[in-house]
Amino acid sequence: MSATGDFRISGLQFPDGFTFGAASAAYQIEGAATEDGRGASIWDTFSHTPGKVANGDTGDVAVEFYHRVDEDLDLIKSLHLSAYRFSIAWPRIIPAGTGEVNEAGLAFYERVVDGLIARGIDPVVTLYHWDLPQPLEDRGGWTNRETSYAFARYARVVGERLGDRVAVWTTLNEPWCSAYLGYASGEHAPGHRSELEALQAVHHLNLAHGLALIELREVVTRPDAKFSVTNCLATAYAADPANPEDVDAKRQIEALQNRAFTDPQLRGFYPPDLLEDTKHITDWSFVRDGDVQLINQPIDILGINYYCTGTARRGPEHSTEGTPYPGATRVEAVEQPGPYTDMGWNIAPHGLYDLLVATHEAYPEFDIMIMENGAAYRDQVVEHNGVKRVHDPERVDFLLRHFAAAHRAIKAGVPLTGYFVWSLMDNFEWAFGYAKRFGIVHVDYETQERTKKDSALWYANLAETGVIPEQLAGGILSSPGRN
Ligand code: FCB
Repeated sequence: MSATGDFRISGLQFPDGFTFGAASAAYQIEGAATEDGRGASIWDTFSHTPGKVANGDTGDVAVEFYHRVDEDLDLIKSLHLSAYRFSIAWPRIIPAGTGEVNEAGLAFYERVVDGLIARGIDPVVTLYHWDLPQPLEDRGGWTNRETSYAFARYARVVGERLGDRVAVWTTLNEPWCSAYLGYASGEHAPGHRSELEALQAVHHLNLAHGLALIELREVVTRPDAKFSVTNCLATAYAADPANPEDVDAKRQIEALQNRAFTDPQLRGFYPPDLLEDTKHITDWSFVRDGDVQLINQPIDILGINYYCTGTARRGPEHSTEGTPYPGATRVEAVEQPGPYTDMGWNIAPHGLYDLLVATHEAYPEFDIMIMENGAAYRDQVVEHNGVKRVHDPERVDFLLRHFAAAHRAIKAGVPLTGYFVWSLMDNFEWAFGYAKRFGIVHVDYETQERTKKDSALWYANLAETGVIPEQLAGGILSSPGRN
């Protein structure tokens, strides 16, 4: 499992042209929630509903990216990043979800895109990172097929304006979260708890992806623009790979979390085992003739987000109401071994390697980008001789090990072309509010002051040189067991 072999000789060299980026999402960073014609999204409603978000935090102000574009783009530039992944807030572009287009919203993102290009940074745009316009939710949100068509129109409007400049388009971020956390477990906006609604949402999100790609391809003019979708694929293991019941538990998780999305998106069908597992919830008649062909549009890059692993075993028969796993009735999650981040997520770089290899084996024709990977820790600013620093050795260690795992996957033949660290700056971490800090740049939420953490300095060096040199790694990769 160790990458120490070639590391000791020359360090880990990433391929020429490898994209070193950082990622963010509109609601998590922008603030300015009611400015310049922005409409309300489901996350405005949800975060303003008492008890839904830790400490009653909201994205009203966030880290004020909306008002600090130039400063923050300079920051990205100073880290030598070759790309920045950000999302566009649908309610800034089409405030009611359908109907009128808001010029001020388009102008804002045009400024971001132009600012990135002027600094030599590739704009990577996510069209949907969870901020559904509230008026669409009022008509059923992702349970309603009309939302897919509204999304396609929104994609076209954005593509018409920015399609000559954006380098990579990704339609959806983690539709798993939108569908199951939004509509089944209720942990995310809109906070529903219905297994049927969650499965309807799965399909309408997939449909939205396909319809949006059709529109985008018609209007995007940048010749080397790339198209993608970003899934959070489970890296699931069977507790006992020799036990068929544990293997079946793993299969159920993979069907719900991975193949429910990748099979229609990349292969043009819904997995028969998923339909079977969920038949007591729905007959899937909301999938109309021709839908899977619409969903199955060509893409260039498969985006994956990776944070930790999961292990499944056969559990007792139980109801899955209120869980994010509709229909996975004989499945039990096994606690993962530590160490853990501040999210309680286990640190498992080998899981990233396994996921990359497995994804490439299943879908060999696509380039892959890690659209998100990173870790939350309780960072603090310290001052040395008047200079502010944030020492985050755990995050440096985390990133080092995960980049090493990615490098190992490249050497094993995975066409991995980029890696976006989550996140550029500390920000609004959904149901956890501001309590979890994922940034490589620290934000003081009182003053909005940005301070590069040690991990940012470490990453800047990697992005500039493309190499993890031995002296930076400090022998860390040779420690046993965690690579
Ligand atoms: C992912 C989300 C991202 C962020 C990270 C920690 O699921 O896409 O917005 O919250 O988790």
